[in-house]
Amino acid sequence: MKKIVVIGGGTMGLDIAQVFARSGFDVVVRDISEEIIKNSEARLNKALDKQVSKGKLDEAGKQAITGRMTFTTDLNLAADADLVVEAAIENLDIKKQVFADLDKICKPETILASNTSSISITAIAAATQRPDKFIGMHFFNPATVMKLVEVIRGAKTSDETFKTVYELAKTIGKDPVEVNEAPGFVVNKILIPMINEACDLVYTGVASAEDIDKAMQLGANHPMGPLALGDLIGLDVCLAIMDTIYQESGDPKYRASLLLRKMVRAGFLGRKTGKGFHDYN
Ligand code: CAA
Repeated sequence: MKKIVVIGGGTMGLDIAQVFARSGFDVVVRDISEEIIKNSEARLNKALDKQVSKGKLDEAGKQAITGRMTFTTDLNLAADADLVVEAAIENLDIKKQVFADLDKICKPETILASNTSSISITAIAAATQRPDKFIGMHFFNPATVMKLVEVIRGAKTSDETFKTVYELAKTIGKDPVEVNEAPGFVVNKILIPMINEACDLVYTGVASAEDIDKAMQLGANHPMGPLALGDLIGLDVCLAIMDTIYQESGDPKYRASLLLRKMVRAGFLGRKTGKGFHDYN
């Protein structure tokens, strides 16, 4: 593996791209508009400058990372990629369209991976003619820090594809786990319903957002409280995951909190909009 293309220059896509570039891969970050791409490049420079100012990276190291990264709106740069990791919006139709296009553009050996947080790998793979070379490669936010990658088999993922991606995750300094496709996979099936419960505790007036987060930090030793974590992940992403788990399981215990849905409708999505359960301005 030499060349990796990451689809999506948002929080996850950019951090995933940085992880690959730090491990010596040539990385292309592709998004749909020049404005988004410029913004991604600026965020990368800011993040690396912060590392330099902390003494965790020197100027030459920064140049080496940025020198391996290309930012583009042109999907055709994926033609000779060895691996494409998609980190676009959590919407099945959009993901299917992206992968149908990639399937036509990429060389036959290219492995196609999705960083989806809950959508069926088998369903996305069905948009391509290479479901054996399709897999889930699920990183965790912040992807530059979190060690886990869930490597998720769809119904037709080959053992060869699985082994390649599992080993690649180790090469980039991550600690992978093997997961068979199921709504929410492993972490989100447990984590997002917990965040949803915390939303309901606010909704029913049991405690304030601050006290719920404090309770889980001090009483369960979580590094951050569930509502602060929801704000970090993005409340829209949390809602999309709850809705997927609910729809796929049909189990009412996975019904999204009414407050979570209301906040998403209001545009209070967490850190990325400056307001969620906490304020970030
Ligand atoms: N983006 C990038 N880097 C970040 C960051 C962010 N949002 N927040 C913190 N960091 C980095 C810091 O720069 C620091 O890096 P260095 O060691 O290189 O300086 C490092 O993380 C530690 O940061 P801090 O010391 O400031 O803070 P901390 O010790 O409190 O750690 C945390 C911050 C890593 C975010 C920690 O609170 C934590 O682990 N929180 C839980 C995160 C979590 O559960 N993520 C999974 C979410 S679920 C998911 O992502 C899946 C999905 O599909 C939705």
